[in-house]
Amino acid sequence: MSQKIIISKDIQQDITAILAEMAYDHLFILTDENTQKLCQPLLAGIHVLEKAQYITIKADDTNKTLEAIAGVWTYLSQNHASRKSMMINLGGGMVTDLGGFAASTFKRGIKYINIPTTLLGAVDAAVGGKTGINFNGLKNEIGVFSPADAVIINSNFFRTLDRQNLLSGYAEMLKHGLISSEQEWKNLLKFDIDNIDYDYLTQLVGESVSIKERVVTEDPFEKGIRKALNLGHTVGHAFESLSFEENRPVQHGYAVAWGLVCELYLSKKQTNFPAEKLSQTVAFIRKNYGTFAFSCKQYDRLYELMTHDKKNEDGIINFTLLGEVGDIRINQQATKEEIFEALDFYCECFGL
Ligand code: GLY
Repeated sequence: MSQKIIISKDIQQDITAILAEMAYDHLFILTDENTQKLCQPLLAGIHVLEKAQYITIKADDTNKTLEAIAGVWTYLSQNHASRKSMMINLGGGMVTDLGGFAASTFKRGIKYINIPTTLLGAVDAAVGGKTGINFNGLKNEIGVFSPADAVIINSNFFRTLDRQNLLSGYAEMLKHGLISSEQEWKNLLKFDIDNIDYDYLTQLVGESVSIKERVVTEDPFEKGIRKALNLGHTVGHAFESLSFEENRPVQHGYAVAWGLVCELYLSKKQTNFPAEKLSQTVAFIRKNYGTFAFSCKQYDRLYELMTHDKKNEDGIINFTLLGEVGDIRINQQATKEEIFEALDFYCECFGL
C-alpha cells in the first residue's frame, strides 16, 4: 500500500510539485459546503489548479450517502472524466472517505489526492486507505481499501478549527502516542492546547501520521496489528452511538478520549498497564475533554452497543489493550462484568 505523505509548509509549492509528478487529463476538486467556503480560498492563485472543476457536496457525516456519491459519479461522467483523470479531496473525513471511494470506483479507479482540512482527518481518515460511505443506517458499511496516491497535510487549515475540532483530532494523536512510545505519549500530554504552537503541532502531527503509516504498511487490510488503531474505539463508539440516540451528539475524538479511559482501565486489570500512566492519561482527558455523563442504568445499552461493533468476531467483543505504552495486545476479550467495572471506573473518575 503506497501512499506519499507530505507534511507541507507551503501548500502552493507542494501541490504544484506533486501534480507535476502525475500525469492526468482532467482535474476535479471535491469539497463540502464548509470546506468550499473556508478552505478553498487557501488554494486560490495556485496556477496548476486553475482549470480544475469543483464538485461540492453537502457537509456532515449524515450526507456520506449513496445519493451523494452518485452525484459525484454523475458529475465526473458528464464532465469528461476518464481513467486518466485526477481527483483532489479537500475536506475532513467525510469528504476524504466519500471522495476516496468515488475515485477508487469510477471507471474502476482514478488517481486521487487527499488534502485533509481537519486535524481528525489529517491524523486518521485521510491516511491509510480506508474509503467508504454509510449505508442502511450503518457507518462506513460500503467501501474499499484504496490508498490515495498522495496526502498533503498543511497545518494552515487547522488554524480555521475551533477548540472542539482540534481536541477531536488530538484524541486520535493521543491514541497513536499510546500505541507507539513513552516519549511520544509524554510529548502529547505536555502539549499546551490552550496556547497552540502551530509549528510544534505540525511536528507532532507528522510523528502521529508516521505511527499510523507504519501500522498500516504492516497490515493494510486489518488482519492483525492494524487493530492497534482501535484502542479506545470499542467503548468510544458505544459512547458516540449513545450520544446520537439521546440527541446529545459528541464528536468522534471526544468519544475516543472517554473510551480510552475505560480501555486503559481494562488494560490495567487484564494486561498490567501501569496504574500511574493510567492516572496521568485520565487526568489529561478529564482536564481537556470534560465529561460524557451517563448513569449505571445505561450500562446495559452501552454493552449492547459494544456487541454491535463491526470489529467483533463470532459475537465476542474485541478490544485492543496495552501492557505498557507501546506494548500492543490485540484481540483481547472482557466479560460483561469487567466492562461494567470499567464503566464504574469512568464514572468515579468523572464524579458521576
Ligand atoms: N481509523 C482506523 C484505521 O484506519 O484503521
